[in-house]
Amino acid sequence: MMPELLSNTLGVRCEADRVAVIRSVADAQDVVRNALERGQRVQLLGGASNVVLLPRIRGTVAVVRNRGIERLSDEGRWVAVRVAAGEVWETFVQWCLHNDVPGPENLTLIPGSVGAAPIQNIGAYGVEVSAFIETVEAVDLDSGELIELSAADCAFSYRHSRFKEDANFLITAVRMRFDRERAPSTSYPGVAADLADHTPQGVADAVRSIRRSKLPDPQFIGNVGSFFKNPVVSREDAAKLAGSIPDLVTYDTAQGCKLAAAQLIDRAGWRGVRRYGVSVWDNQPLVLVNDGADSGEQFLRMAQDIRADIHHRFGVVLEREPVVMGET
Ligand code: EPU
Repeated sequence: MMPELLSNTLGVRCEADRVAVIRSVADAQDVVRNALERGQRVQLLGGASNVVLLPRIRGTVAVVRNRGIERLSDEGRWVAVRVAAGEVWETFVQWCLHNDVPGPENLTLIPGSVGAAPIQNIGAYGVEVSAFIETVEAVDLDSGELIELSAADCAFSYRHSRFKEDANFLITAVRMRFDRERAPSTSYPGVAADLADHTPQGVADAVRSIRRSKLPDPQFIGNVGSFFKNPVVSREDAAKLAGSIPDLVTYDTAQGCKLAAAQLIDRAGWRGVRRYGVSVWDNQPLVLVNDGADSGEQFLRMAQDIRADIHHRFGVVLEREPVVMGET
């Protein structure tokens, strides 16, 4: 059996024993059941834009590519849609902009697929996708059965959900509901300043221009976006840290004070540093870019160096954001 290469936005090398492209729910169930018969469990990939692939994956990787955007109901204020997991997230955002469906415009230009959106609860510029999700349809990897999870079942929080912890589901579709009476979200620093008009298209344009100025386009420069989550610390720890970083950025959350990992990495002098073929992106030091790396291990090594330094200097632990898949 010839191993198959898996493309990914980091641009690193990864071979899987088997790759199964999923184009329908029936495909998904077949692949899951076939793997179960061999005593295996499939591993899952959407757009491969938020994953660090290591050189080798044993067993089958299911690449989800089913398509379809369906308007389930549209009654004045509320619009409900069902979107196949394999749709490209940005295609869906554009569909919303062209079909008078407001809400996801702040999430424009996020790479990846619709099915991956609930996994890390994608969020940017003041909006998280969990605000819209009603249910998630998935194939249970233990049984091959099609099930539906409610938003509560998904346990969404900042950059997190149940799907990140128990990899038990192959997501096949996401049902979302949008409110036409909801005011556009323009509170994130920079969005209002860039706003030409208060329409979803105006917000999308503002977000696109901010993203383009800060973030490398994964089509041209290998990256998975933020490599770390913004850390949440106690108010006392944040106050202590403000002693050494006077303009410390903090956001109050129910769990404590959220800090800007980018600022800590920046202040520690990592901006633009290159090691192991990996560079810290100049305009947003939360992003690590491929600068000659061949293996996901090189990214993990760089991330470990940064993590250790930030811990040593500031006593703050940075948690990795993308998922790691495979082995060396
Ligand atoms: N900052 C610095 N130095 C820098 C860059 C930023 O000090 O070189 C400080 C700035 O002062 C700024 C703060 O860091 O106030 C936060 O920066 P930014 O507004 O760019 O947002 P972020 O918290 O770093 C998060 C998401 C991004 C998302 C933006 C906008 C995480 C881990 N990342 O970044 O997500 O686009 O907010 O909402 O929460 C991604 O996941 O790939 C991603 C880019």
